[in-house]
Amino acid sequence: MNQFFVLCVFAFAFAPTFEARGLFQSLTGSVKPGKCPEPTRLPQPFELKQFLGTWYEIKSTKPVFEKDLRCVQANYQLDSATGNVVVNNSGVYVSNNTIFTVGTAKTTKQDNVLSVKFLPYSPAAQYWVVDTDYKGYALVVSCNNVFGLFNFRDVWVLSRNPTLEDATVKNLVAKLDSVGIKDTQLFDTLQNC
Ligand SMILES: *[C@@H]1O[C@H](CO)[C@@H](O)[C@H](O)[C@H]1NC(C)=O
Ligand SMILES: *[C@@H]1O[C@H](CO)[C@@H](O)[C@H](O)[C@H]1NC(C)=O
Repeated sequence: MNQFFVLCVFAFAFAPTFEARGLFQSLTGSVKPGKCPEPTRLPQPFELKQFLGTWYEIKSTKPVFEKDLRCVQANYQLDSATGNVVVNNSGVYVSNNTIFTVGTAKTTKQDNVLSVKFLPYSPAAQYWVVDTDYKGYALVVSCNNVFGLFNFRDVWVLSRNPTLEDATVKNLVAKLDSVGIKDTQLFDTLQNC
C-alpha cells in the first residue's frame, strides 16, 4: 500500500474532527517519524463518568487557517445501552452557523485511553487523556501510528469553561514533553459565543 493512500485514509478518518481540511497543509505540525509514545497512565484510575459533559477547546493543533471555526466544544454522554460514549464535536463559523459531528468512543484496556470513531468504516483514533481534574481542565492527545513508519498526533487543551487560567494552560503544555509529545505547535481557539 502506498503512503499516499494511507494518508488519504487518515485524512478521511479525521475529517469529521475538523482536522482534515488542514491535514495536508499541517503535515509538518502533526506528523512525526517513528511510533507514538506509549500512553502514560493517570496517577489515579480514570473516572469516565466524571469526564462526561461539555468541554471547551482552549488550544489545539488545528491549523491556523481553521481560525474561522470558533467556540469549538466537545460533549460526551454515556450511551447506557452500549456503555460507549457518544461524542458531539461542534464549532461555529464566521457565518454564525454551528456545525457538529457525532462519533462514538469506546473504552480500551487502559482506562485513560479511549478509541474514537466518527464514521463506521473509518479507522479508530486514539483518545488519550494525559491529565485532567474533571472539573476544570483536561489535556488530551490522539497519536496514531501508520505502519510504525510515522505517526499523526493531535493535542487538545480543554476546559469546563470557555476560558482557562494561563498558569494551568502552561502547566498542561509543559506536560506534553514529558509524555513524549514534543515540538507541538498549538493554536488558540476563540471562545466568544
Ligand atoms: C451537538 O452539539 C451542538 C452544539 O451544542 C448542538 O447544536 C447539536 O444539536 C448537537 N447534536 C447532537 C446530535 O446532539
Ligand atoms: C454573527 O453574530 C454576531 C453576534 O450576534 C453578529 O454581530 C454578526 O454580525 C453575525 N455575523 C453574521 C455573518 O451574521
